Parts: sequence; structure tokens; C-alpha cells
Amino acid sequence: MSIDVATIRKEFPILDREIDGAPLVYLDSGNTSQKPRAVIDAMSTFLEQSYAPINRSSYRLAGEATDAYEGARTAVARLINAPSADEVVFTKNATESMNLIAQAWGRANLSAGDVVLLTEMEHHANIVPWQMLATERGVDIRYVPLTPDGQLDLTNLGQLLDGAKVFSFTAMSNVLGTIPPTAQLCRAAHDAGALAVVDACQYVPHNAADVQAWDADLVAFSSHKMCGPSGIGMLWGRAEILDAMPPFLGGGNMIDTVSLDGFTTAPVPAKFEAGTPPIAEAIGLHAAINFLEGIGLAEIRRHEMDLTRYALDALNDRFADDITIFGPDNVEIRGGVLSFTFRDLHPHDVSQVLDERNVCVRAGHHCAKPLMKTLGVVATTRASLYLYNDEADVDALVEGLAGATDIFGF
Ligand code: ALA
Repeated sequence: MSIDVATIRKEFPILDREIDGAPLVYLDSGNTSQKPRAVIDAMSTFLEQSYAPINRSSYRLAGEATDAYEGARTAVARLINAPSADEVVFTKNATESMNLIAQAWGRANLSAGDVVLLTEMEHHANIVPWQMLATERGVDIRYVPLTPDGQLDLTNLGQLLDGAKVFSFTAMSNVLGTIPPTAQLCRAAHDAGALAVVDACQYVPHNAADVQAWDADLVAFSSHKMCGPSGIGMLWGRAEILDAMPPFLGGGNMIDTVSLDGFTTAPVPAKFEAGTPPIAEAIGLHAAINFLEGIGLAEIRRHEMDLTRYALDALNDRFADDITIFGPDNVEIRGGVLSFTFRDLHPHDVSQVLDERNVCVRAGHHCAKPLMKTLGVVATTRASLYLYNDEADVDALVEGLAGATDIFGF
């Protein structure tokens, strides 16, 4: 069953906005997503009626806020089919989750000569934290290469995994849209004795995720790409792995006892949630999860597959050799991310021309400079789709590009 985009769009106040008398065409959800009324209302109601510290004070209002915060954790666990909400840690964003993994797990488990396996399609959040560790510890980093159509080239995966202690990879590329075979990669990591870490920040907002079906060990994702507020991210991990990891940040909330001589840590997840967490953001995230689940993640994925097919065909049919769209053509293994080069125009020029028509896209390296190098470009223009986009948005992109052709005199 396909989703009712017209009805969904009504839930997003910003989509009513006009700039210079023309409607907004928002095609930058891979960067950050727009927020439905339910999220905006949940946060403002909480701030107006129920805001209080969590886990610290014994008055009723604080108990109410704590329950609401923990309710968000339960919703996250449900969304990704985690066995327990206690395995869900709230962070600042997916980047912080990846840093937590590299710093807490990595520093406790990796030493000189150990191997970390990444892929050439990772964004900086799944490269730089490991490189920081490599510099500090002398860890070796290997990368799974790509096929010409932007899939992982798994031909030598066994060799690349040989001796690896961790395999950390994206469940969906923010540049290519590629959806690698996550369960297969987790199995390969485990067969090689490596930890399987999944950067799922582009996957979870658009697909029904199941960390148990993946058999992953640690999974990072963020709220702001899935209709929730910015400022809160998630790390899910197997209980035994999180239990064994040392803390990441120190301070209040993450301790059991503290004396002048030292401290002991609180149980997970508090062990990884030092200081006052993003409380209202958790309440907004909970509303976002309810909103997405109300529509259905599988239905959202189906819609995005159809719209991605429509976009690939519309762009290729209209511009033929003038456009190069990166990533696989098969929407079964591709999400709604369309990165492209257009004639010899710089992506920033393309983006500016599109912006004159209120078409919002991202231009640049997309926080994936190594991947740009692999693709042989310095930058691309990227349109990224979500549940509130429809064929009219894609048509506006196509017409905007045709307009760029006129402006630059082709
Ligand atoms: N948030 C970054 C993007 O736009 C990584 O894809």
C-alpha cells in the first residue's frame, strides 16, 4: 500500500512556507529532515507543562519528566527491534555515537597493529574517529573498495577481514544511496572474529530496521534525520558489549559512587549519559518515532523506492549524457539519495540556481571527501528524498536543472 503524501505533507508546517511567493521544494533530508506538527507540539507541550530534571530530584514533576525521557528510550528500542531499552544510549548525534564507540570500545580493545576495517563509502563520522585512534594507538585502517556502480566490492572481503578486530560500515550511503547487505556483512565480521559496527543514520529513518536480524554489535543513528529534533542521537549495543566498555564522558549521572580517590560507574545506559541529557529532544524524538510508525517504515521505504525510480528515470531521460548520477540503478539496493554531476557546472552553482526556484539540495563533498576522491570528483549536487516528497518535487528539480542549462548558456 502506498502512502498518502498529500496528507503527510499537511503535517509539516514548513512545507506551507513560500519564499518569494513560491513554494518550498525540500530535497535535503539526507542532511536533516523536516519536523511534523506532532514533534513540534510534543516538545512545546513538554516544555510548557512537564519540563524538569531527570534522574535527580524526587518531586513529582521530575518523576514525570524522567518517565517521559525513559519512554523515548523504549520507543527507540521498539523502532529498531532491540531486545531491551537498557541497551539504548542517548548521545548528541550519530557522530557522537561513533566517537563513543571508537573512544570507549576502541581504546579498551585496540592496540598497535590491530586492524579496523571500514569502506570507501563512509562519511567522515565513520572515518575520522577511527583515524584519531589510529594516530594515538598505531591501529591500521583498511577499506573495502567500491564497484563502478557504487556498491561494496566484496570480492576480497575475507582477506580484508583477516586479523580485523572491528568492521564498521554504513547501512546506507549518504552519497550513493547504496544499501549494503548489512546482515551478510555482520556475519562476515563475526566469522572473522571482528565486532560489527553499523552506521545506520541514513538507514533507520527510511527503512524498517532490525538490529537482531542484522546480528549487529553496535549501531549508531540520529534523531534529526528521522523527523525528530537535532541534538539527540542514539547508540544501540549488545548489553554484554556496552557493559564491558569503559565510560566515554565523565561527570554526573554516569557514576554510581565518587570519592576523592575515584569513582565507580552507573549501569548502562546511564554509564554513557554524563550530565544533563537532551530531555525535551527525547520527547520530540518519541513523537517522531510514533509518527513514522503510524505511517509504517516499510510503507515509507516502498514510497521512496518508487520515487527514487521516478527521479532516476526523469533525470536520465531529460539530461542523458549531461548528467552523471552516482550509485546503483537498482532501487532494491538503493535509498532515495541522488548525487550527481551536471555538465561541467560546479555543484555550488547548480545549487544556487536551484535555490532561486526554492529547490533545496546539498552541494559539496557531503562529509565524505574520501568517497569524492574514489568517484573522481571534488563535489556533487545531492537531492535526497523523504516521505513528504512527491513527483512534483522531482519535477521541480528537473525543471530547475533545465533552467540552469539556460542560465549557463548550453
Ligand atoms: N549529514 C551529512 C549529510 O548531509 C552527513 O549527508
